[in-house]
Amino acid sequence: MATARPKKIRIAVAGIGNCFSALYQGFAYYKEHSDENVPGLMFDDIGGYAATDIEVVAAFDVDKRKVGKPIGKAIFAKPNCARVFMEKVPAGCIVQMGPVLDGVSDYMLDQPEELGFRIAKAKPVDVARVLKDTKADILLNYLPVGSQAATEYYAQAAIDAKVAFLNCIPVFIASVPKWEQKFIDAGLPLIGDDMRSAFGASILSQVLQELAFDRGFQVDFHQQINIGGNTDFNNMMVQSRLASKKESKENVIRAQNDLRGIPVPKYSLFAGPSTHLPYLEDNKVAYFNLRLRGFGNAPVNVDIKLSVQDSENSAGVVIDAIRYLQVARELGVVGALRGPSAWTQKTPPVQMQYADAKEACEQLAKRQLDARHHNQKPATARS
Ligand SMILES: NC(=O)c1ccc[n+]([C@@H]2O[C@H](COP(=O)([O-])OP(=O)(O)OC[C@H]3O[C@@H](n4cnc5c(N)ncnc54)[C@H](O)[C@@H]3O)[C@@H](O)[C@H]2O)c1
Repeated sequence: MATARPKKIRIAVAGIGNCFSALYQGFAYYKEHSDENVPGLMFDDIGGYAATDIEVVAAFDVDKRKVGKPIGKAIFAKPNCARVFMEKVPAGCIVQMGPVLDGVSDYMLDQPEELGFRIAKAKPVDVARVLKDTKADILLNYLPVGSQAATEYYAQAAIDAKVAFLNCIPVFIASVPKWEQKFIDAGLPLIGDDMRSAFGASILSQVLQELAFDRGFQVDFHQQINIGGNTDFNNMMVQSRLASKKESKENVIRAQNDLRGIPVPKYSLFAGPSTHLPYLEDNKVAYFNLRLRGFGNAPVNVDIKLSVQDSENSAGVVIDAIRYLQVARELGVVGALRGPSAWTQKTPPVQMQYADAKEACEQLAKRQLDARHHNQKPATARS
């Protein structure tokens, strides 16, 4: 029996920065290349949805160079510096003014025009109202690191408008029981916190740590130094804003110890952003050093350099997370999705090993295909 093609997934986005630029260009890119075997997506199909089944119905920012512009123009406005790999993108919806709250630091206001933020004078809209009016299914949070109050505002707006939430940043929502409960009470799924790029520093650190333990090695030291030139790295030059990103990055590595009951030796772990070098633009460079001990205490030293386009590296993962959220909505699964959060985020409510997280995602997608095949409407359940 042939299954009907599902409807489009309607997303709203807070923060039209570099990550969204890569994501939006990606929608056009994968539409143009839909018949080819092009790299960059982990799954062609998730629960019947392709990458091209996503449309942007609302967008929020606070920068005067973006607010009031169609998203197709706003993504190329400064300080964005993500690589342009798809010049022709649809104009799309107009970026609306969000509440600034703590989204913009004094430091970013003091930066030169091309590297900092400039706040628009427009009156902020009621985000929950817009989410309802545009019939959004999912709200993506792409705010700058350190936006605690602003993230809480957007999370609450999602709850009020009965919209699922994808928290791509290290302000902890999905991993905080009090927040998860609010989404459960509203009958909504969410994924978070702090997305993990497809082939980024976090996933590489995780699999190296897993590999060391699986092969019987002790990890005495694990260092992951990150340098980049984009707006996100600039924003994190403020030490107080950077703290949650460092915690989130270290969570990924620490989790592999915790899952095996192996203590993390004192001063043995560093993972975090280290500096902003504008020359690099959206190129992120990460330097790894692992010091291991194996048979007979024999030392093993691992040095790796990873160089990636930061924003594009995260876009494919977000396309997957959006589809898992939509599948969960349709299945009536509520709360923070365990498998998809562990697979796509650095600080999920429950950390998993690589293979277990992937398996949990595949099971969720399969449940949806089975349900659609049998035309069932499953009961509401926790993930
Ligand atoms: N690979 C990656 O790039 C990656 C990976 C994991 C997490 N993240 C996180 O994703 C987030 C977005 O990254 P980015 O590179 O797009 O950042 P960015 O700095 O380029 O974009 C942030 C955008 O948010 C806007 N903004 C600020 N305050 C706002 C408010 N109150 N309401 C609406 N918009 C507001 C800014 O004007 C800007 O356009 C960051 O927190 C980053 O740490 C990125």
